[in-house]
Amino acid sequence: MTECTNGQTSLNTHDETMITKSIKKICCIGAGYVGGPTMAMIASRCKHIQVHVVDINQERINAWNSDELPIYEPGLQQIVSDARGENLTFSTRVEEAIQESDMIFISVNTPTKTFGIGNGRASNLEYVEKCARVIAENSDGHKIVVEKSTLPVRTAEAVQRILISSGKPGATFDVLSNPEFLAEGTAIEDLEDPDRVLIGGDSEQAIQCLVDVYGTWVSREKIITTNLWSSELSKLTANAFLAQRVSSINAISALCEATGANIEEVARAIGTDSRIGPKFLKASVGFGGSCFQKDILNLVYLCEHFGLPEVAEYWYQVVRMNDFQKRRFSTRIVRHMFNTVSDKKIAMLGFAFKKDTNDTRESAAIYVCRDLIQERARVTIYDPKVNLEQIRHDLKTLMANGQGELSAHDRNLIDNNVRIAHSAEEAAQNAHAIALMTEWEEFTKVDFEQIYTSMKKPAFLFDGRNLLDRDMLMDIGFEVHSIGKC
Ligand code: NAD
Ligand code: UDX
Repeated sequence: MTECTNGQTSLNTHDETMITKSIKKICCIGAGYVGGPTMAMIASRCKHIQVHVVDINQERINAWNSDELPIYEPGLQQIVSDARGENLTFSTRVEEAIQESDMIFISVNTPTKTFGIGNGRASNLEYVEKCARVIAENSDGHKIVVEKSTLPVRTAEAVQRILISSGKPGATFDVLSNPEFLAEGTAIEDLEDPDRVLIGGDSEQAIQCLVDVYGTWVSREKIITTNLWSSELSKLTANAFLAQRVSSINAISALCEATGANIEEVARAIGTDSRIGPKFLKASVGFGGSCFQKDILNLVYLCEHFGLPEVAEYWYQVVRMNDFQKRRFSTRIVRHMFNTVSDKKIAMLGFAFKKDTNDTRESAAIYVCRDLIQERARVTIYDPKVNLEQIRHDLKTLMANGQGELSAHDRNLIDNNVRIAHSAEEAAQNAHAIALMTEWEEFTKVDFEQIYTSMKKPAFLFDGRNLLDRDMLMDIGFEVHSIGKC
């Protein structure tokens, strides 16, 4: 990484006149939660552009070509079915897709490093670098390479250097940064009507090519153009600010529980101040998802790298608070259940990190489930979109962390103490407690009178999302514990 000396560093390597004026063929490397929906939206709005989404994961590509898409996202099936076979293709033919395209999006995963320098903080850029190399090897003429993945500030410089040094003679490249702001569960509406589209780059003509793609359905005032580094850094900063709001309200939720204040009343009172605003003030069991923690850790690493330890420490506290909130929830369960959950059945409602997605990455449910089985509880989970295989995989990954491999003891706990149910009612049958982890709409429609009858007494209910009607549950007879309420 190079220290920033001025914001105007130019990466241009070619004559501006060589740029293809109108984009006819796009390819996207990475058919995940971002690549799939984003490209499906471009294909559905830009019928004049052929869109080819490629991935090295054959199973994932097969799923994209089937009626059972690899990711659950409301509205996605429809736009994929409409465009697939017309101007939207999914395949593993990475090299061919690059050769044929004018514009190549890199949308591969950038997880937190789990080894070596920056272990536990820095982003693992291995997959991005591999993309840059395969693009270099398969490009003739001029290509516009678009960073869609979330990347540390100044990654474009590394991508550009690889493209130049490994590219074929005569091949030229522009690198743009176009981070994605969609949230899972609302990806299609976010893509259809984004708050903004952000494009960073040096070449005005390359930027214009991408502006023209989005301009097909997004109004021009919503398309912000910046230099490369501002664009890369804005993405990390946006996620850090959003996560900070959740950690801030969660910090106050702990104080509410200690004092008798009510977190929803406090959130409403502060959210009506137009300078603060009402969104992202929902206290919860803790934020999850593949982005928030990873991106803040990356920001922390960058601040440390650039000799800003105070700034690094400031942002790290957002993650620390989130860990505290998750742990606090499991501790409250144990404490209220007479300080032992050993051999007690706990029904866990929801495992995804939020509603309307099948994604479980960094879900608070994984951490709470780990804590409960370590206390020897028997946990039965029901999530409308997550299967047992995924749940066991998540627990094994978390519990192996640190030691590198899973101990026989932990493996036994996961295999013997974690079960799956096919409905909330089945999960709660004979349970000592319910722990609600994900705010799925269907949990508000469950017959809690019937569930109460089927449970052991006292019947505890820990609402990690403040989703359910607390008064109604208490009237039925439940002992209810919510976030930020006594
Ligand atoms: P993902 O894990 O769902 O998908 C990434 C895909 O890239 C995988 O299918 C993987 O097989 C593929 N891949 C990896 N290396 C490859 C290679 N060399 N060639 C071809 N395919 C390769 O990840 P995601 O959630 O879509 O995230 C992608 C990027 O977008 C990340 O940088 C993430 O931070 C960012 N992002 C994610 C979200 C989100 O909500 N998930 C939102 C905004 C930004
Ligand atoms: C986030 C960003 O919102 C999105 O812009 C970015 O592109 C990717 O990362 P995502 O992780 O999909 O999106 O979902 P988001 O809605 O941001 O929720 C993240 C986590 O915070 C979830 O676990 C959610 O339940 C939690 N959350 C969110 C709260 O606990 N309270 C809130 O008020 C809001």
